[in-house]
Amino acid sequence: MATPARPKSGPRLELSARLQSVAELVPRGARVADVCADHGLLPCALVLDGVARRAVAVDVAEAPCREARANVARFALGDRVEVRRGDGLGALNPGEVDGVIVSGVGGRIVLEILGERSLAHLAPAWLVVQANKKVPDVRVGLIKRGWAIADERLCEEGGRYYTAIRFERAATPPRLKRADVLLGPTLRRRGGPLFIGFLEHTREWMSEKVTGLARAPGPAADAAATDLELVDLELAKWTAAAAATKGGP
Ligand SMILES: C[S@@+](CC[C@H](N)C(=O)[O-])C[C@H]1O[C@@H](n2cnc3c(N)ncnc32)[C@H](O)[C@@H]1O
Repeated sequence: MATPARPKSGPRLELSARLQSVAELVPRGARVADVCADHGLLPCALVLDGVARRAVAVDVAEAPCREARANVARFALGDRVEVRRGDGLGALNPGEVDGVIVSGVGGRIVLEILGERSLAHLAPAWLVVQANKKVPDVRVGLIKRGWAIADERLCEEGGRYYTAIRFERAATPPRLKRADVLLGPTLRRRGGPLFIGFLEHTREWMSEKVTGLARAPGPAADAAATDLELVDLELAKWTAAAAATKGGP
């Protein structure tokens, strides 16, 4: 696959931290589809930066498609970025893209759009997914459908943490430990200050959930308490590692 050179001059497009983390996971030289593209800034940036060779921006609604077409025209990308109005992957033709991006929507919509049957006609080599909610469900759902997690990015924007994940086809889908499902296998391997912030944030809302469920004991309450213990263990591990690096206690 030819790898386009990064252009030295020309218009630049600054993506938000969240969209930048999605862009970082896209393989160079690919033909991409951005489904739920909205403004279309991500496919425009991918082509402008020489990451993608071509892109198709798909959105189900007319107003976002209009805005995306205006952005394509603004950056003079009409020969390499096409905007299509359509529902999910139905707007794409067999063999025209190497991978599919779905970002900025909830996990349920991600799993609906990336259904096994709707993906079959495209046979993409990779998926890059950034779900605003239910990220663990996305990990479990796509692994069940024959995908494996190849890489992940974490970012913080406006006080919220977002996880972007690249999935690749797997001959034997891996079995993830519950901590990997919750927190991300590659994020857990890397750790770092941002990951500690994410763990603290996760711990906070999980504690509230456990407190709420304590009024109704049962399997849901037990599962939430077990998940919180896993987050606590992970947080203790990375906090100790950070202290050791600083030479602290
Ligand atoms: C919140 S925006 C996300 C925009 C962008 N992907 C991002 O990460 O910033 C969600 C967009 O998804 C579109 N959308 C929702 N369901 C869709 C579907 N089934 N097929 C195509 N587009 C869809 C909506 O019209 C909306 O423009």
